[in-house]
Amino acid sequence: MDSSISPFLRPIHQALFAKVFHWVNLVSLLLMMTSGIQIYNANPVFGGRGGLQIPPIFALGGWLAGGRHWHFAAMWLFALNLLFYGVYIAITRRWKHRFVSGKDVKALQVSNNQKRKNYAWHRLAYTAIIPILLLAIFSGAGMYKPAQFYWIVDCFGDWQALRIVHFTTVPIVIVFAVVHSLLGLKVGGSRLQESMFW
Ligand code: HEM
Repeated sequence: MDSSISPFLRPIHQALFAKVFHWVNLVSLLLMMTSGIQIYNANPVFGGRGGLQIPPIFALGGWLAGGRHWHFAAMWLFALNLLFYGVYIAITRRWKHRFVSGKDVKALQVSNNQKRKNYAWHRLAYTAIIPILLLAIFSGAGMYKPAQFYWIVDCFGDWQALRIVHFTTVPIVIVFAVVHSLLGLKVGGSRLQESMFW
């Protein structure tokens, strides 16, 4: 590396796998959310057929069956990508230092260093989204195969509650995407953001 370049201008390198994971996650989540909105609009969980509609511009698939086709095709991409990521961080042992730690929690409580706090928030945000994504898969699996996974439906009480929980993952993912990119920008500037994709 050219040591004459300031550390703040040096490019950040990410593993190719991390970039591929990030791209596939972004695209598949967009497909999952937009096709999910199409399914939702066919029979809104909030208010039934005449209930709260989401503008069709955000919906993918054209009609209920189209939305379901997209949703069930993209779910493999989304879920397998997450699985490969899990295997990757387990094999490379990245899980040991990749996620939020006790040190981050402590920094949030006692540190006066704003940079260190931003970093801790950043780690907290991308760690917290993982159980949410797993919840989307878990609740989705309950709706996809309710006969086989009747116990998943039971976990949520009833079908309506299961639908609401599954749907709630959409606004959470949207808020996460905004917060995650803003914190990424604060912590590592556009260099960090670009390094995750290119
Ligand atoms: C791989 C995991 C997933 C599976 C197996 C899955 C499966 C399903 C199923 C079976 C339905 C109901 C389809 C119907 O009633 O015809 C559904 C609806 C929906 N899904 Fe997913 N899904 C998954 C992930 C996601 C993700 C990641 C999101 C967005 C973050 C999402 C958003 C939605 C939405 C908004 C609906 C409509 C909810 C409703 O009104 O009932 N899904 N999903």
